[in-house]
Amino acid sequence: MKRIGMLTSGGDCQALNATMRGVVKGLCNTYKNVEIYGFLEGYKGLIRNNYKLLKAEDFSGILTKGGTILGSSRQPFKLMGVPTEDGINKVKAMKETYKKLKLDCLVVLGGNGSQKTANLLSEEGLNVIGLPKTIDNDLWGTDMTFGFQSAVDIATAAIDCIHTTAASHNRVFIVEIMGHKVGHITLHAGIAGGADVILLPEIPYDIKSVCKALDKRSEQGKGFSIIAVAEGAISKEDAALPKKKRKEKIANRPYPSVAYEIADQIKDSCGCEVRVAVPGHTQRGGGPDAYDRVLSSRFGAYAAGLIKDEKYGRLVVLKDNDVTDIPLEESAGKLKYVSPDDSIVQNARALGISFGDE
Ligand code: F6P
Repeated sequence: MKRIGMLTSGGDCQALNATMRGVVKGLCNTYKNVEIYGFLEGYKGLIRNNYKLLKAEDFSGILTKGGTILGSSRQPFKLMGVPTEDGINKVKAMKETYKKLKLDCLVVLGGNGSQKTANLLSEEGLNVIGLPKTIDNDLWGTDMTFGFQSAVDIATAAIDCIHTTAASHNRVFIVEIMGHKVGHITLHAGIAGGADVILLPEIPYDIKSVCKALDKRSEQGKGFSIIAVAEGAISKEDAALPKKKRKEKIANRPYPSVAYEIADQIKDSCGCEVRVAVPGHTQRGGGPDAYDRVLSSRFGAYAAGLIKDEKYGRLVVLKDNDVTDIPLEESAGKLKYVSPDDSIVQNARALGISFGDE
């Protein structure tokens, strides 16, 4: 008999269910009796001992289902040392739940912050395995997270739809894509959707360079342009500010988001007609694409193998197309950014895509 705790933590994404299904299928192939304690709403469920006792059958038919059958919530790592409103010591409570239910292992499906907490619990002596979730693909140590490709597909489809209407009306369109700190989705969807300008948090832009790229398109007789902007795109001017000032300036910006600010600046400088489209949380919605179904199934099966081998304190990752594992502590606290030196950025520049920086 194996008693496995499982939770999905942080912002949801496609393939959370597919990954849990992979774990459970892998376990059921090895063990006759498996009990899954599915904690509800992420770490909240583990803190409050709030769970559903699930059987293998509960994981049937969910390969293609979006969201998470367990629910999710954000429980910031930096607040793990702060008691809940009703005075519960979170870390102590999580350990108590684990011990009370006599779990053999806790499987955490989560992104950067959630894996930091997974590492903390591992350091506290629990058997923990992490699975790399996030549409942002910013988890350090893995080439790919599940959810990313599905989100890229949705963001690309949004740019595709904008393309036709932008061309009909000879407009500049800004499509704002998810990613506050990192621009992987914007970079990939921007290239896939044929964007003319791509603005990322990692490559600060100068609005004059953006306008230069738009003018160049007009000179070439192109009546419309598409700009893919990450939520966290930042101007060179703002990037040069001290962190506190920068945060204040961005928080007090008189626009709903960066895309609207850039739209106004382009209208002022280039005098062209500009529209903004924000696909928002649709990028996290719906079921996983085929790539994510395969990736998450592989990740899940691999995690089951780690449980069988009693190899804990590990994060399952994809490296050079192989599924493998690294210590949780190796990834904890680090983000995987787009580097301006990445070959994909160089390839995009070679295609004539502007990053608004030169
Ligand atoms: O972590 C993924 C992410 O989708 C980011 O790209 C996005 O900025 C953020 O979550 C939005 O999350 P929420 O609205 O759920 O707080």
